[in-house]
Amino acid sequence: MQRASKRYGVPLLFFLASLAQAESVTQFVTKEEKIREEMITISRELGVTCTECHNVTNFREDSKKSFQVGKEHMKITQMLKDNGFDGKKGPMSTCYMCHRGKLRPDFKEPTPDKAH
Ligand code: HEC
Ligand code: HEC
Repeated sequence: MQRASKRYGVPLLFFLASLAQAESVTQFVTKEEKIREEMITISRELGVTCTECHNVTNFREDSKKSFQVGKEHMKITQMLKDNGFDGKKGPMSTCYMCHRGKLRPDFKEPTPDKAH
C-alpha cells in the first residue's frame, strides 16, 4: 500500500486536477447555453428578435428601452414564480402569460364604446 501510493501519488494528483478542470469547463458552457436558451424563449414569447433589446456586438449593453423594461419584467416573472406561479400545482409564470407573443400586450380592458 505504502509503495503503491508513492508510485501512483503524483499521476493520481494530475488525474484529479484534470478532472476538476474538465468539470469547470462544462459548468461554464452549460451556463452560457442556459442563458442562450432562456433568451430564445423570451424572444419567442414576445414575438421579437434579439435586436429588440440588444446591441448584438455587446450583449451587456443596457441602453435599449426594451432591455431595461425586459429586465424589470424578468423580476416580475421571478416574483410570481416565488409566490405560487411555480408550475408545481398550476401555471408557471412566463413572459407569454401576459405577452401572448406580442411585444405590447393589451393590458386594459376595452371600454364599452370601443367594444361595440
Ligand atoms: C425582451 C428583451 C430581450 C430579448 C428579446 C433578448 N434579451 Fe438577452 N438579455 C436581456 C436582459 C434584460 C439581459 C440581462 C439579464 C440580467 O442582467 O439578469 C439579457 C442578457 C443576455 C445575455 C448575457 C449578457 C451578459 O451579461 O453576459 C446574453 C448573451 C443575451 N442576453 C443574449 C440574447 C440573445 C442571443 C437573444 C436573442 C435570441 C436575446 N438575448 C434576446 C433582454 C433581452
Ligand atoms: C404580469 C404581466 C407581465 C409579465 C409576466 C411580463 N410582462 Fe412585459 N409587459 C407587460 C405589459 C402590460 C406591458 C405593456 C406596458 C405598456 O404598454 O406600457 C409590457 C411591456 C413589456 C416591454 C416593453 C414593450 C414596449 O416597448 O413598450 C418589454 C420589453 C417587456 N414587457 C418584456 C417582458 C419580458 C422579457 C418578460 C418575461 C421575462 C415580460 N415582459 C413579462 C406585462 C407583463
